[in-house]
Amino acid sequence: MGRDVSMDSSSSKSYFFLFKICILAIGTCGAVRVMVPTEMILGTVGRPLLLPVNYTTGIKDQNTQITWTFQSQSSGSMLLVTAINNTLTPDMEHGHRFFLSPPSATLLINPVQLTDDGEYTIKVTVSGVKMESASRQLTVQVNVPVSKPVVHSDPAWGAVEYIDNATLTCTVSKGTKVIYQWLKDGKPLPESSRHIFSVDNKMLFISPVLKDDLSNYTCVAKNLISINESEPIAPNIYYGPYDLMVKSEPRFKISEGVFAVGKGEPVWFKCSANSNPPNDYSWFQKANNKTTPIHRGPILNIMSEKVPEKADYMCCVYNNVTGKRGETQFTLILSATGQERRKYKGSSIHSLVIIVGLSITLIVCILLYFILKRYFPRKVIKKEVYHRSPTDYIRAHQVSVEQEPSMDDYGIYEFVAVPEPAAFPQVPPDKLSTVYDIIRVPDIRTVYDVICQTPKTS
Ligand SMILES: *[C@@H]1O[C@H](CO)[C@@H](O)[C@H](O)[C@H]1NC(C)=O
Ligand SMILES: *[C@@H]1O[C@H](CO)[C@@H](O)[C@H](O)[C@H]1NC(C)=O
Ligand SMILES: *[C@@H]1O[C@H](CO)[C@@H](O)[C@H](O)[C@H]1NC(C)=O
Ligand SMILES: *[C@@H]1O[C@H](CO)[C@@H](O)[C@H](O)[C@H]1NC(C)=O
Ligand SMILES: *[C@@H]1O[C@H](CO)[C@@H](O)[C@H](O)[C@H]1NC(C)=O
Ligand SMILES: *[C@@H]1O[C@H](CO)[C@@H](O)[C@H](O)[C@H]1NC(C)=O
Ligand SMILES: *[C@@H]1O[C@H](CO)[C@@H](O)[C@H](O)[C@H]1NC(C)=O
Repeated sequence: MGRDVSMDSSSSKSYFFLFKICILAIGTCGAVRVMVPTEMILGTVGRPLLLPVNYTTGIKDQNTQITWTFQSQSSGSMLLVTAINNTLTPDMEHGHRFFLSPPSATLLINPVQLTDDGEYTIKVTVSGVKMESASRQLTVQVNVPVSKPVVHSDPAWGAVEYIDNATLTCTVSKGTKVIYQWLKDGKPLPESSRHIFSVDNKMLFISPVLKDDLSNYTCVAKNLISINESEPIAPNIYYGPYDLMVKSEPRFKISEGVFAVGKGEPVWFKCSANSNPPNDYSWFQKANNKTTPIHRGPILNIMSEKVPEKADYMCCVYNNVTGKRGETQFTLILSATGQERRKYKGSSIHSLVIIVGLSITLIVCILLYFILKRYFPRKVIKKEVYHRSPTDYIRAHQVSVEQEPSMDDYGIYEFVAVPEPAAFPQVPPDKLSTVYDIIRVPDIRTVYDVICQTPKTS
């Protein structure tokens, strides 16, 4: 409406501008203009309501008449109020609620009633040199704000899944032209084969109910002037038992459905299943082809010295409303398993110690090897010498002869005795000229290798 008002304002301004141009150019245009909002005007019962109107006549010094009439299907057409110049003439029947303050043509209805719904016509007439008039229509809708809706669930005591139907009905104590909408857990609930709405949407029919329908339902009631939401309601749905299972302390479980416990150890079992209303729990022992009821209630405590070495146990659940049952079975073995488990734990610790010990020994050995290698390099050198080829010896000899490496000879010398390989070429005595040659005197039948550890020059 605000948008339209501003539109009207701008259009009225432009009309006014046009009109001014008319006056300037011709002196008078004579056109009567009436501007009203184009949208429906919404009223709230008991509150004041304005029907805003602007008009321009363009002619001065003349009689101006403003007339409001009302038409509705129920009451037909009637005059509400009229004003000539600034003199108001209210209708005797309706005048006490319809107000006009000329020269403004805006009508005030206070208080507005439901019967004020309908079409309103504003007519502006000016009579000067000649008669001019214009009229416009406005639509008014009057509503009562919706009160907080209330949802009733039927049957109130609850519905059994797969068997019963449920109906949720939304009612509002106050409100006109109310439309209803259903939310399931806050989200709009679409119609489906199991969820059917009444024509006016006031009722939701669930046929048949399922555990899935166990949600919070809300009814939203609204009309053009207000919106209100019910408190969530969760219909009572009887279901189950589902997800039946037996639990115990994890240390007793050896496989699916098999528990082992040391003799004398107390053990508990907890049976659980999802159901509404809560299940009835009963326990049975099956041993020696005999089934004996032993306990009622969700938790079974067993003193292991008082039960057979091996027995099957059964937890039975019963939902006395849905009439459905469930049962699950497990085996309890009584033996030295508890002690064995401890033994196993002990032996695993023992083997861990062995593994750690072995690893430490291995590390120490490796360290020792490297330390020995670092401080006693002889063996390594000897090994290298062993693998040196005869050509290497010759090359070494030639280098020493040709370059006379007096500086190169500086260093620490180490003599290593190496057994001579059979095919070692022998150097004749006349060629002997250096220390290398001397130590290679063939008669010795032993070859000495010289290791030169020249200090680094840089
Ligand atoms: C009437 O004129 C006023 C002032 O220019 C403006 O605010 C208002 O929206 C106008 N109303 C209509 C119905 O044109
Ligand atoms: C209405 O007012 C105009 C001037 O604005 C005047 O000329 C005219 O006589 C008045 N009419 C009546 C009926 O009072
Ligand atoms: C809903 O209705 C109650 C009365 O039933 C009213 O107090 C409340 O303000 C309404 N809420 C809204 C949002 O209109
Ligand atoms: C539930 O509604 C269906 C129809 O949708 C009907 O056939 C059935 O009899 C109803 N069940 C109960 C328990 O009323
Ligand atoms: C309904 O809503 C309440 C509060 O938000 C919540 O505690 C309850 O669990 C819900 N019920 C269901 C059936 O979702
Ligand atoms: C248990 O019943 C089976 C047959 O169902 C039979 O073969 C077996 O001997 C019975 N055992 C005892 C201990 O009664
Ligand atoms: C179902 O069992 C509950 C106890 O678990 C009891 O209170 C209730 O009365 C029983 N209902 C029927 C219909 O037997």
